[in-house]
Amino acid sequence: MTDALLLEGLNYAEQNFLDENADHLKVDKALVRKLLDLDGKRIMDFGCGMGGMTLWYAKNWDCEVHGVDIDGHHIQVANQIKEKHKVENVNFVKQNVIEKPLGGKFDYVFLNDVVEHIPLDILQNIFLQLEKVLAPDGKIFVSYPPWKSPYASHLNHVIKIPWCQFLPKSTLDGLIEKNNHPIVGELESDLREAYDGLNHMTHEKISKVIANTSLKQVYRKSHCIINRMPLLENIPFRIFPLNYLITKEFLMVGKG
Ligand SMILES: C[S@@+](CC[C@H](N)C(=O)[O-])C[C@H]1O[C@@H](n2cnc3c(N)ncnc32)[C@H](O)[C@@H]1O
Repeated sequence: MTDALLLEGLNYAEQNFLDENADHLKVDKALVRKLLDLDGKRIMDFGCGMGGMTLWYAKNWDCEVHGVDIDGHHIQVANQIKEKHKVENVNFVKQNVIEKPLGGKFDYVFLNDVVEHIPLDILQNIFLQLEKVLAPDGKIFVSYPPWKSPYASHLNHVIKIPWCQFLPKSTLDGLIEKNNHPIVGELESDLREAYDGLNHMTHEKISKVIANTSLKQVYRKSHCIINRMPLLENIPFRIFPLNYLITKEFLMVGKG
């Protein structure tokens, strides 16, 4: 990883760690605060990336946090931020769980912006493993931008066109080619690879993965742009065409 990319990763992770309003995780953080008390809990942050959320859990609750990610560059950044801020109650591990399955027991497993990046057959294997490491009353908290979301392409910070995933393929390919640049990551190391790695996640797809385990959905929130208005905060807008305004889906599943 180049020094410039390392610095970019450190700044990004530190902002996600320290800034409650950091853009793409703002709603995740507000919802976790509203729904969960993590004091005294064992937590896994699966697909922890550069560790911003992992460190945020560790700093805000008296809990023990285990961050797991397949990408060594992401784990390198996460460990540097952990050292810089002397966060003791967190550890980070680079692990490909298909080769070395997960172990331990956890009260909460978080997958923030992870499930849309993993091929569905591998995601199924991961959920079967997560089911085994979940404590009896444990819960898995999942967040992702559904494929119809204006920002699901993960390209909006450079190609500033909402829903650009629905442009004609040749137009989108041209835009990606023109704007392509390296990003922090061993596996997905530029924008093209990151876009091609997306599985076009929907509620139906993740529900199918969950249905193949013994886990049951205990909570769902579809966060839509209209929910920013206080009086409409809790109304799900899941019908066409309003479903295209949903920016993030949140699911919680447990053993019953
Ligand atoms: C968009 S990032 C999200 C990172 C972090 N959860 C956050 O919210 O900032 C997706 C992460 O999933 C990780 N990932 C993808 N496939 C994985 C796998 N099979 N096992 C573990 N992590 C994986 C990627 O390396 C990447 O760090």
